[in-house]
Amino acid sequence: MTENKAINGVIRTDAANPIGVFDSGVGGLTVVRALMERLPFEEILYFGDTARVPYGIKSAETITGYACQITEFLLRRSVKLLIIACNTMAAVAYQAVANLSPVPVLDVIAAGARAAAGATRTKAIGVIGTPATISSNAYARAIHAHDDQIRIFSQACPLLVPLVEEGWFDHPVTRLTAAEYLKPVLAERIDTLVLGCTHYPLLKPLLQEEAGPEIRLIDSAEAMAAIAEDLLAETGLGNPRRTAPDHRFFVTDVPHRFQTIGEQILGRSLSRVEIVKW
Ligand code: DGL
Repeated sequence: MTENKAINGVIRTDAANPIGVFDSGVGGLTVVRALMERLPFEEILYFGDTARVPYGIKSAETITGYACQITEFLLRRSVKLLIIACNTMAAVAYQAVANLSPVPVLDVIAAGARAAAGATRTKAIGVIGTPATISSNAYARAIHAHDDQIRIFSQACPLLVPLVEEGWFDHPVTRLTAAEYLKPVLAERIDTLVLGCTHYPLLKPLLQEEAGPEIRLIDSAEAMAAIAEDLLAETGLGNPRRTAPDHRFFVTDVPHRFQTIGEQILGRSLSRVEIVKW
């Protein structure tokens, strides 16, 4: 890894440097999974703030402080690109992160909004997310930037993140909770449903069953990986090495728990889970 350097105010980073990906917990691993599939030679430094999850029920000020702390941690490790793999942080702290970062910053909301606007035929889209994401209105703004005729029906689902962190991906309690949250959104005859939280793709089969087969689910993780691939190609920052990367995972508490759920999500063993004490 080469240290990032600023030359005449322009940051010089190395294509062999890792990509920094972060979330409040395990949810961002859905983005990591999509990145690993699309960009198998890119090294990933993942940060999951397991000591402070969930973020989505906290204030914008608190979430922004956490996001900046994580950003600084990853920038010190010379990442060449930052991916905010958390809708909640993207919704309230994107600008603060971008202001700190000399390297490009991508976020899941822009990716999900683009995919949703492209997918809808009836121009009626449902968005589910954490309370912080939904009350920020960030999805509505991002989708309307593509098409202001689209009608958006949003629903905060505060209980889903703890259920996912518990590993209850297909549990009757999760099913009942999801059905209750989806009721008002489905009553609006949407044709597209944005999973506006990176934890939710882990519930995709369950959510698809509850929403019905005619509704298209938008998983911002997949859209994010496609955008990252394009950006690396455009900027010449794709890793030229063709060897299996050594991914690293940083968490702020209970690493073995992250490791167990993480291995389930990624379908591979996570040998390098390290604990960070601020
Ligand atoms: N995974 C995060 C998101 O995409 C948030 C989870 C949380 O509430 O911490 O919004």
